[in-house]
Amino acid sequence: MSILVTGGLGYIGSHTVVELINHNFDVIIVDDLSNSEKFILDNIEEITGKRPIFYPFDLRRKELLQQVFEAHDIEGCINFAASKAVGESMTEPLKYYENNLFSLINVLQEFKERNISNFIFSSSCTVYGQADQMPIDENTPLKEAESSYGKTKQMGEDILKDFSRAYKKRVSLLRYFNPIGAHPTALLGELPAGIPNNLVPYVTQTAAGIREKLSIWGDDYPTEDGTAIRDYIYVVDLAKAHVAALQKLMHSDEETVLDIYNLGTGKGSSVLEVVKAFELANDVAVPYQICPRREGDITVAYANADKAEKELNWKSETSLEEALKTTWEWQKYLKDRNN
Ligand code: NAD
Ligand code: WQD
Repeated sequence: MSILVTGGLGYIGSHTVVELINHNFDVIIVDDLSNSEKFILDNIEEITGKRPIFYPFDLRRKELLQQVFEAHDIEGCINFAASKAVGESMTEPLKYYENNLFSLINVLQEFKERNISNFIFSSSCTVYGQADQMPIDENTPLKEAESSYGKTKQMGEDILKDFSRAYKKRVSLLRYFNPIGAHPTALLGELPAGIPNNLVPYVTQTAAGIREKLSIWGDDYPTEDGTAIRDYIYVVDLAKAHVAALQKLMHSDEETVLDIYNLGTGKGSSVLEVVKAFELANDVAVPYQICPRREGDITVAYANADKAEKELNWKSETSLEEALKTTWEWQKYLKDRNN
């Protein structure tokens, strides 16, 4: 019995594959390498001593996907594969709707036709928009998403709600807050394509001298230090939540399950706090300048993750500083690798 991990060579997927292997799951990865690199597979093997089966193709190629389902006894799927650059989704919305929705639907078709259940979907806190109240729990009303990327996550959730109900399937929607950090071995981490949009990769590259200065997007927010607040969750903690969510689905007595969990730390940190924590954790300077707010940004978002703690027996365990240390080690690994 195997678990299909789409996008399993990507940032969160690769960490989750390691956790799955550590829990004795057989893993099959489909990833078209559009935002990842093949050496990650070697590194997964180095960490776990096991090389997952890997198929390099685009999930929109239905005939290839069918062959994977023919060849293996698949018992569940964690679906990471998606395009995720928020800014690009505004200039190339069709790329996002096509990739994120068609690849999802293709996998769901196989599940339906072959009577497979247990499906986990990578959703995002972006589905909440600027929530009226903090912390954000799973009953917080969803607002219209700010980006086409965010809309693909809302649509993905809707598709899965219908899929679960109509075909009697077990589904878990995992709403990640802001994933950060790298594997403690420094063999896995985020590989931002081009200039990073996200805060922590930008901070890291600035500390490494690849970027001259971090631009802090706004210090006039109604927060204590004026910078915006997010909930930064360590990627290995996040990966572990996937195993817990999968085990819950697989052990359920119910035919139809629709689980929804926020995955965050429950604690908000401001941009300046992240910069200071990075400097302190790694004893390195991060030059920055204050700039106007970034369009589409919200003031504050942090999770109430009590439901995941209660039902999955999972909670975030790693501090911001510890997570930021791993990011820095990963940056050094990448530098050595490129030399
Ligand atoms: P990532 O880009 O590192 O990983 C996605 C992987 O999917 C990549 O390896 C890419 O090559 C692959 N892929 C994309 N389209 C594909 C296709 N059509 N066929 C096969 N493979 C394909 O991204 P990530 O940060 O690991 O995110 C994983 C998931 O979590 C995504 O669905 C993302 O939207 C979601 N998510 C990410 C964040 C975040 O901040 N990183 C936050 C919330 C939700
Ligand atoms: C965090 C904070 C920025 C970069 C995005 C997606 C969201 C989800 C997670 C996938 C904000 C500030 C950033 C920089 C800065 N992804 N910042 N200078 O915007 O919370 O969420 O990633 O689902 O959908 O929108 O994360 O890391 O981009 O920004 O000052 O160079 O850091 O303004 O306040 P965000 P982020």
